[in-house]
Amino acid sequence: MTALMEVDGLRAGYGSVEVLHGVSLSVREGEILALVGANGAGKSTLLNTISGFIRPSDGDILCRGHSILGRAPAVIARAGIRHVPEGRRIFAELAVEENLMLGGYGLDRERVLERMKWVYELFPRLIERRSQAAGTMSGGEQQMLAIGRALIADPKLLMLDEPSMGLAPIVVAEIFKLIVKLRDAHGLGILLVEQNAHAALRIADQACVLSLGCVVKQGTGAALLSDQTFIEAFLGGRSSV
Ligand SMILES: Nc1ncnc2c1ncn2[C@@H]1O[C@H](COP(=O)(O)OP(=O)(O)O)[C@@H](O)[C@H]1O
Ligand SMILES: [Mg+2]
Repeated sequence: MTALMEVDGLRAGYGSVEVLHGVSLSVREGEILALVGANGAGKSTLLNTISGFIRPSDGDILCRGHSILGRAPAVIARAGIRHVPEGRRIFAELAVEENLMLGGYGLDRERVLERMKWVYELFPRLIERRSQAAGTMSGGEQQMLAIGRALIADPKLLMLDEPSMGLAPIVVAEIFKLIVKLRDAHGLGILLVEQNAHAALRIADQACVLSLGCVVKQGTGAALLSDQTFIEAFLGGRSSV
């Protein structure tokens, strides 16, 4: 089966500094791929390169078999790839609903309103706060808004960069439950970047470990979780949840 999104031999970085040294991975429809690795490994750089914000120096990025290399971020988003960035980057001064509307920028208004209804069903807390300034909500609600904004455009692949960062364990559990629901009930492909590796591997179908810009391990989430060498080297032998 053709992968939903495939990265092949990707090299990219900042100016003359190469951060990704030939990364290859793929995400299939209805599958969660967890991308784990230490701080500075290049996880966010990879997501920003897939989204078209960083131009790779080598390699290819395919969306359902077609290269999207060198395309503008807006074109890549229209191809069905949506990125929820690290730190959420919602517009704090704008109302919740205005933030959601921005996720549908350039799309048919009827369709956006339909999708908004769906997002409110997924996150009932957002509907209660639709007129409230987004920045006044809790961290968990802001993360839900950031995910909701990405879902407005009906993506096929959702890329989440550290969605659990700074959130209380009970809220993290809620976000992870939602990620599983998006895969199981809605068939989305999900590229999940997490520091919280244990929790990510538990829900992941496939997993990749990135270290200093290289994929050093790949396998099913379950295989990585039972790999003692991996646990000791990357998770310090203990669960972070
Ligand atoms: N805007 C930038 N300009 C220059 N170097 C950067 C920039 N963003 C990240 N880096 C560097 O790229 C490397 C990978 O960073 P990043 O992709 O953010 O890692 P991760 O998301 O895995 O923590 C780090 O060495 C970081 O310092
Ligand atoms: Mg990062």
